[in-house]
Amino acid sequence: MRTLSLLAVLLVLLLVSHPRNAADAHGHRFGKEKLTNLRFYLHDTLSDRDPTAVPVAHGAGATPRPGDPTPFSTVYVVDDVLTEGPQRTSRVVGSAQGLYASTGRHGLGLVLGIDFALNDYNGSSFVVFSRNPVTDGDGRELAVVGGRGAFRLARGFALLRTHYLNTGNGDAIIEYNVTLLHY
Ligand SMILES: *[C@@H]1O[C@H](CO)[C@@H](O)[C@H](O)[C@H]1NC(C)=O
Ligand SMILES: *[C@@H]1O[C@H](CO)[C@@H](O)[C@H](O)[C@H]1NC(C)=O
Repeated sequence: MRTLSLLAVLLVLLLVSHPRNAADAHGHRFGKEKLTNLRFYLHDTLSDRDPTAVPVAHGAGATPRPGDPTPFSTVYVVDDVLTEGPQRTSRVVGSAQGLYASTGRHGLGLVLGIDFALNDYNGSSFVVFSRNPVTDGDGRELAVVGGRGAFRLARGFALLRTHYLNTGNGDAIIEYNVTLLHY
């Protein structure tokens, strides 16, 4: 009797946990996983008369650090230009649209939620949702959590290097070296 009920439990477990065939779902519908490396420069301009990053909200209780262009709790909306080389006049390869927030209470820290669309990939984009540990300096890493079009199901990381930074107004040109796994 005991053996029988054990068998019944096993049978039920087998039925409800029937595993999806991962090889089929991935190998069949999405083809082979690809590895893509992308390099470009992001121009984040806060100071212009026509800025690409605009503060839209700021917590009332937060104390600004003196001379900090991105005070804690400030949220920015961005539409940054991406270029092939570091100069703004270099070929435009795409745009980065989304939000970032100044999230460091005790030092500069940002969290980004940004969609990077690339012209050479017909506007396909990859998505960064990540801390940007700005004070870690060059080689700091951001997480890529998804993508659209040519970058469907993307995951990966971006290594950042500051090419130019104006600590007074926050204007920056950042080199992105992105590694993506996608279908
Ligand atoms: C972009 O679209 C064109 C026309 O549909 C296509 O031939 C090309 O392969 C696409 N390029 C990429 C990188 O997806
Ligand atoms: C870009 O990042 C990859 C590691 O993901 C590294 O192998 C490569 O050297 C980097 N390229 C540059 C130019 O920094």
